Amino acid sequence: MPQSSRRSEVEPFLAMDVLAKANALEAAGHEILHMEVGQPGANAPARVVEAAQAALSAGRLGYTEARGLPVLRSAIAAHYRDTYGVDVPDGRILATTGSSAGFNLAFLAAFDPGDRIAIAAPGYPAYRNILKALGIIPVEIEVGADTRWALTPELLEAAHREAPLKGVLVASPANPTGTMMTPEALKALVRACDDMGLWFLSDEIYHGLVFNGRQETALAYSDKAIILNSFSKYYCMTGWRIGWMVLPEALVRPVERIAQSLYISPPELSQRAAAVAFEATAELEAIKAGYAANRELLLKRLPALGFTEMLPVDGAFYCYASVRPFSNDSVAFAERMLNEAGIAATPGPDFDPVNGRSYIRFSFAGDNAVIEKAMARLEEWLPTAG
Ligand SMILES: Cc1ncc(COP(=O)(O)O)c(C=O)c1O
Repeated sequence: MPQSSRRSEVEPFLAMDVLAKANALEAAGHEILHMEVGQPGANAPARVVEAAQAALSAGRLGYTEARGLPVLRSAIAAHYRDTYGVDVPDGRILATTGSSAGFNLAFLAAFDPGDRIAIAAPGYPAYRNILKALGIIPVEIEVGADTRWALTPELLEAAHREAPLKGVLVASPANPTGTMMTPEALKALVRACDDMGLWFLSDEIYHGLVFNGRQETALAYSDKAIILNSFSKYYCMTGWRIGWMVLPEALVRPVERIAQSLYISPPELSQRAAAVAFEATAELEAIKAGYAANRELLLKRLPALGFTEMLPVDGAFYCYASVRPFSNDSVAFAERMLNEAGIAATPGPDFDPVNGRSYIRFSFAGDNAVIEKAMARLEEWLPTAG
């Protein structure tokens, strides 16, 4: 019997395992309050849906150029001008099948097997898994309150001295922490990478979802930065699988060549719909106001319930909280909370193999009523949880 490859031996995504268990409990008739998945509860904006319906009625949907439709790429360029005051030519923008495809393409174009790439822990688990599957070495650097849960030039230089790095990947606001770098901290890190000759990859998927502080794109500080972004989060389009990258000139053609063979093109239907997503600001800001209300509720209720250590919730839609007041194993804690209180949340080892057993991630991307109910149930259940 032939064997599966060594490169496929990546860790399972616990958030998806929790989701599967939660769904099974629901199917068995239990009411489950979902705070585990990082996706908006809201539908895609109305005009996005209308654009998709018009494209379907028009009939023919085909391959597009691998870079994506010009109409989408120029809408993205306009977004950079309007949002950040940054001019980027359409020629450096590529549409992707979600930012997940963007990671594959960026890693393949910038790195070779055996290269070492720095990422922060806690961090989004797919970074580590995709890098490993491609034979690239993730160098996980533990971050904490002392650096506001972000990588710094000093941490990077220390890792680079130990064994040379080829690049670094950061997200700000980040998953699972919800914490955002200040523009100054981001600038210092981007500049340090340029000085060290490293690729700087900036996952800006949670831009738009900022409640505290000012978001800035790494593009403002270097035209060598590789930007990954997506319509999944702020634009409420997870299932449409559409995102984009902004590339330094030198990587445009290499990425395009790989994209032609790996994906041919992102789905045309999603591209046509996404091209109008930047016009849906009023609808999207109303959805964001709902997250802001959820965030306020959690910031008030969780500490009162005993979650006394929470990371700064600057953006995204996550609260990453320590479970230590209740348990020293967040995996067991999350399982009991699901089975006994009907609340699904994601335990920390997904995001941080070293300290993750002390943390749990609550997503507040759902309805306010669900979060309210979850807090009420927690209040009843927590005294029995110890
Ligand atoms: C930090 C981060 N980056 C990227 C993604 C992937 O998103 P998509 O492929 O839908 O663009 C996610 C999804 O949860 C995420 O949290």
